[in-house]
Amino acid sequence: MGFTTTAIVILVAIGLWYLVPRQRGQGKAFVSQPNASYDYIVVGSGSAGAVVASRLSEDPRTSVLLVEAGRDDNGDPYISTPALAVSIQSDDPEVVENFYTEPDKSRYTGLKNGQAKWPRGHVLGGSSSINYMLYVRGSRNDFDRWAVYTGDRQWDYNHVLPYFKKSEKMQNPELSNSIYHNKYGPLGVNTIDSNTRTIIKEKILKAAQELGYPVNDDYNGRTMEGIGYAQTFTENGERSNTARAFLRPVLERENLHISLKSRVQKVIINDKQAEGVELVKDGKKYVVRAKKEVILSAGAIETPQILMLSGIGPKNHLKDLKIPVVADLPVGENLHDHTLVEVPIKYKSSGKSIPSALSKLWDKINYKFFGSGPLSTCGSEFNIFASTTNDNKRKDWPDLQIMLMGAGFSVGSNYLETMNVDPKLVKSYAYRDHVEVAINCFPCVLRPTSRGKLQLRSRDPFDHPVIVPNYYETQEDVETMLKGIQICKNITGSAALSDVRAEFVDNQPLSVCREHRVGSDEHWSCVMKSRPHTVFHHVSTCKMGAANDSSSVVDPQLRVRGVEGLRVADASIMPFIVSANTNAATIMIGEKAADLIRGQQLKPLYNV
Ligand SMILES: Cc1cc2nc3c(=O)[nH]c(=O)nc-3n(C[C@H](O)[C@H](O)[C@H](O)COP(=O)(O)OP(=O)(O)OC[C@H]3O[C@@H](n4cnc5c(N)ncnc54)[C@H](O)[C@@H]3O)c2cc1C
Ligand SMILES: *[C@@H]1O[C@H](CO)[C@@H](O)[C@H](O)[C@H]1NC(C)=O
Ligand SMILES: *[C@@H]1O[C@H](CO)[C@@H](O)[C@H](O)[C@H]1NC(C)=O
Ligand SMILES: *[C@@H]1O[C@H](CO)[C@@H](O)[C@H](O)[C@H]1NC(C)=O
Repeated sequence: MGFTTTAIVILVAIGLWYLVPRQRGQGKAFVSQPNASYDYIVVGSGSAGAVVASRLSEDPRTSVLLVEAGRDDNGDPYISTPALAVSIQSDDPEVVENFYTEPDKSRYTGLKNGQAKWPRGHVLGGSSSINYMLYVRGSRNDFDRWAVYTGDRQWDYNHVLPYFKKSEKMQNPELSNSIYHNKYGPLGVNTIDSNTRTIIKEKILKAAQELGYPVNDDYNGRTMEGIGYAQTFTENGERSNTARAFLRPVLERENLHISLKSRVQKVIINDKQAEGVELVKDGKKYVVRAKKEVILSAGAIETPQILMLSGIGPKNHLKDLKIPVVADLPVGENLHDHTLVEVPIKYKSSGKSIPSALSKLWDKINYKFFGSGPLSTCGSEFNIFASTTNDNKRKDWPDLQIMLMGAGFSVGSNYLETMNVDPKLVKSYAYRDHVEVAINCFPCVLRPTSRGKLQLRSRDPFDHPVIVPNYYETQEDVETMLKGIQICKNITGSAALSDVRAEFVDNQPLSVCREHRVGSDEHWSCVMKSRPHTVFHHVSTCKMGAANDSSSVVDPQLRVRGVEGLRVADASIMPFIVSANTNAATIMIGEKAADLIRGQQLKPLYNV
């Protein structure tokens, strides 16, 4: 065979590999109709819900129903292939539900219709099936703060560390024996494939050190501070979401049912006792009874929505919608999120470049046969965690994360469109499409102080809620972000990057913020406020607090205050967002919730 024929054969084979549907919905657990009752009903199979259902059904005497609005994720290459994460989020309505914040054209002038877009995974595994797979647990100070806030030591770092470890199957042998890690859990994690593309990797490490950020081999270990290679939710080059780790291995359990494409509309509550749920599947309504408990794990947008539809929420808001009030609780308040600003940095490349069609083909072969190469990477290669105040330095509690992504990821017009940036503004960023980007520098404010709010739009469970994020409402958040942008500037100007002549890509006027000098603090402040970029870490809409704390929705046992038989286990219970990407902490919440329900607890780990 000639070279061309061989190439065609390989291309076709790879094309087929992508197209052949893998088996979906196979396994005893998947049911076409739910039974009339179960011990536990878990609503939502996302980062937390999949864990709760999997752990509770370990006991064969306990029956569990897991209700999931989306379909099975199995065999979807867009979900399993890390590098395709951006495409899955952008346009697969079958697995992604896009929420939009309330139009605010005067404030978010750089967003289409003044709305930020918040995609969420509506598929087995929830948002863990569509996210960017960065594995960051958070600072010990985050959990110690939760413990102080709730008055319950169970949530401090020493007590939650065993739960992080319980899930984990660390693949990197350099970390798997560390006291902070575990190699025997169900959830594969790894450090980023060192065989990535970025030619100037070493230079970035040097640049960071030059600025005073030491190399940290494990930001999930003793301290977060410094620069380190990304740890990711991947195993053998594939995404490891909670469906794969916690559900697929248990699909033959007799006592676990999973009802897909099923939407819970409300929790049925009588006499302040949760008795079950009302769900719709294939256009048919079912009432399913919970003999013991209902656990809501529908995420920080839909858990509060379900609670309010069930009569649990702010009294006046429910009255306005003529929903009978079961419990007057501040559901939907305290909403917060991480934001980032993209700062692409260009450079002068010296390496020989391979024709792109050929290199793309090689990437696919490399991925299919070796599980490595660019398709196996998640974009972010390094993270810097930095403390910008003396107080945070002293506590070892970084308030800024700088995600550094290599050349493979472009924030050109396609990407900006996906993020709902105004078409006029996208046009003024069009030059980015033609620039060879060296590094994407993404600073992220880790402990924002701005708070938003979520409310029902109507009594229709299919109506998306009203979301008001109040991004950058506090000057503190703006100032911290400016410091992050300064770090990107300093990396660009570092001696380590001088021989590749690194410079900012964005050095021209845009269609917004024209009144400010490009590059000035005023300009950056205006840009970040006018088109806030979510990091997709919406949390805290059903805040956990002490049992007597009227500003909270659930107690430290995750029980909805004032209602029996109803808990919340997902990202919505975080009293304060963790100083990290939120997936790992949400999975930990799922582990912890299962033990709280079973009345068990893991021994805390001290002296770590
Ligand atoms: C695009 C994107 C990128 C991200 N990147 C990262 C990252 O790199 N690292 C990281 O740590 N975090 C990341 N995150 C955040 C992280 O994935 C989330 O914080 C986490 O998945 C939230 O878990 P959860 O259990 O609260 O909700 P989800 O995982 O969203 O689960 C909610 C589940 O409930 C189901 N559901 C909702 N309503 C109903 C209903 N009425 N009836 C039945 N089922 C229902 C949904 O279909 C879904 O499966 C990202 C998130 C997104 C969206
Ligand atoms: C569902 O109902 C059937 C018939 O009563 C029963 O045999 C089965 O154990 C039930 N399954 C679960 C998971 O509760
Ligand atoms: C950036 O560099 C400037 C000039 O060297 C220095 O004054 C400043 O402290 C640095 N800032 C950060 C955030 O690294
Ligand atoms: C809640 O109870 C704790 C401990 O009993 C007490 O210290 C605290 O002041 C109470 N808080 C409120 C808001 O009543």
